[in-house]
Amino acid sequence: MNKLKFLFSFLFIIFYSGASFSEIAPSDVVADEYGAVTASLTGIAGDPANGRKVFMNRKQGNCLACHVNSEMSEQTFHGAVGPVLDGVADRWTAAELRGMLVNSKKVFEGTIMPAFYKDSGYNRTLKKFVGKTILKAQQVEDVLAYLQTLKE
Ligand code: HEC
Repeated sequence: MNKLKFLFSFLFIIFYSGASFSEIAPSDVVADEYGAVTASLTGIAGDPANGRKVFMNRKQGNCLACHVNSEMSEQTFHGAVGPVLDGVADRWTAAELRGMLVNSKKVFEGTIMPAFYKDSGYNRTLKKFVGKTILKAQQVEDVLAYLQTLKE
């Protein structure tokens, strides 16, 4: 019995370390010609509740700096630089939304919306940001899962 337990915990560890290695690096993300990204960045389903937190966090997504989102009316300031995000899941597919989060510049040419999962190709990057993305891969998947709940 003990041997069996040992075997299972061993397999468990292999499985989990394997899962974390399957994360797609920013430079390896595959987008189509319109910037849509079909494959999950992590292979782990996004958590909409955490995505909601990342969305409103001023140091992470900071999406409210530019977007109105009625589902978060408890939050005080909503910017109006970008489109209102109400019902956004009815307008765009998951792949299109993931593509916007990863690198909005590929979807909307010249947009001021930040690319949240891109770590190279910037000019004059501050040293502390070299090789870093604004959001982690799983945070992108979580925000995506949250956006998919925004239906009219
Ligand atoms: C600095 C401002 C800014 C920030 C911050 C920002 N966006 Fe945007 N976003 C825009 C603008 C502007 C557009 C419109 C695209 C364009 O430039 O033509 C846009 C477009 C979008 C769209 C498409 C909306 C539609 O209905 O067409 C989605 C979805 C979106 N943003 C989600 C987000 C999310 C989620 C975050 C946070 C993780 C975020 N944005 C952060 C400025 C911003």
